[in-house]
Amino acid sequence: MLLSFGFPTEKTHEGNATFLVPKLSAFVKEPWEYAPSKAPVFYNPAMELNRDLAVLALQTYQKLTEYDVVACEPLAGCGVRGIRLAKEVHGIDKVVINDINHEAASLAKFNVEFNALNDKILVENEDANLLLSRYAAPRRRFNYVDIDPFGSPAPYMDSAVRALRNNGLIALTATDMAPLCGVHPKACIRKYGGKPLRSEYCHELATRLLLGCLVMQAAKHDIGINPMLSYSQYNYVRTYASIAYGAKSADSSVQSLGFVLHCFSCFHRENQEGLTPSLRQLCPECGKKLHAAGPLWLGSLWNGDFCIKMRDEVSNRDLRNKTKIKHLLSLIIEEANAPITYYAIDKMCDKFNLPVPSLSRIISGLNASGFQASRTHFNFKAVRTQAPASVMRETITRLATGSDL
Ligand SMILES: C[S@@+](CC[C@H](N)C(=O)[O-])C[C@H]1O[C@@H](n2cnc3c(N)ncnc32)[C@H](O)[C@@H]1O
Ligand SMILES: [Zn+2]
Repeated sequence: MLLSFGFPTEKTHEGNATFLVPKLSAFVKEPWEYAPSKAPVFYNPAMELNRDLAVLALQTYQKLTEYDVVACEPLAGCGVRGIRLAKEVHGIDKVVINDINHEAASLAKFNVEFNALNDKILVENEDANLLLSRYAAPRRRFNYVDIDPFGSPAPYMDSAVRALRNNGLIALTATDMAPLCGVHPKACIRKYGGKPLRSEYCHELATRLLLGCLVMQAAKHDIGINPMLSYSQYNYVRTYASIAYGAKSADSSVQSLGFVLHCFSCFHRENQEGLTPSLRQLCPECGKKLHAAGPLWLGSLWNGDFCIKMRDEVSNRDLRNKTKIKHLLSLIIEEANAPITYYAIDKMCDKFNLPVPSLSRIISGLNASGFQASRTHFNFKAVRTQAPASVMRETITRLATGSDL
């Protein structure tokens, strides 16, 4: 189908929406090319689960607050996310979708009309920060702002926070995993104001760096944050946080910032709270050098009740990713109140030249020794626990060598 867009398109569907997207196969010459970024308008079918979760999170938020939700997606591509929110979230009043790319805004407009949503969705075509600033005045603000950009959401955080009402919900996607996971540390410091670390739990640190940046962007406006759901999938991290107006809330969020110190020699890790602590230099378990990540968010990444309600919400819906989402949310609910950082068991076994015991036996072993322990959605071969590295090594060795049998 060519329609009037001047590039090949095709119809597709996600959730309750049917919409027109660039025909991705027409824009790649080689099989390894990344089709979404070659097309004149962005659409990535692999992010369907990300959009499913946006629907579920906003519905959960709407049910908890009973607001007539006004939402904004300032970097919308073909409009699928905003259209799905308008169609699938009960209690949504209005959605503003926007893209700086004229062809994207035209395609989004077509898709809004195609879904008979003209009365609910307004499509704009300008820079996201300009749009958000236009909506930053009292009584114009949104209940929900979803920042889903190429790469880092950091350039949009300030205006997104300013365009949110008190108790509003912000969603942030970051796909710049190389900076956030410590491959390009300077870029991470520039964008997020915190130092990353290439540790085996770098995806958790990435999420904490993203939230740490949000805390500081919100704090200057006397706004605090409360993370509801954070997760990492494929090549991105995503977080949903509600905001609370007031200097006290902002101070309390800032107090949850600090550093994670890591020993690459024995896997020891520890937290140091505060923005100006004198950081411990040497590992208390093996005496080698400690490496610091931060400042970053040391508070919880999840609100367990919110995640349970999201999982309940999935059951009522006919989503292609239903099973995957239930599995993801169940893992998150399991780890929601568990301590910071996890041990990648395969990496430890590799280093200590041991066979890999089952996670469930490690978790029971740690529980029996009085430590909290759970699986983590960040890494299916890892255990989240506050047990010291030496206890982890002992437990794994005992289980791997059968010396507890
Ligand atoms: C990752 S895509 C968005 C995908 C979309 N949120 C979805 O769920 O399908 C990022 C979009 O941001 C748009 N964009 C880039 N810079 C922008 C800016 N400064 N203001 C508004 N849109 C921008 C791009 O044209 C692109 O369509
Ligand atoms: Zn050590």
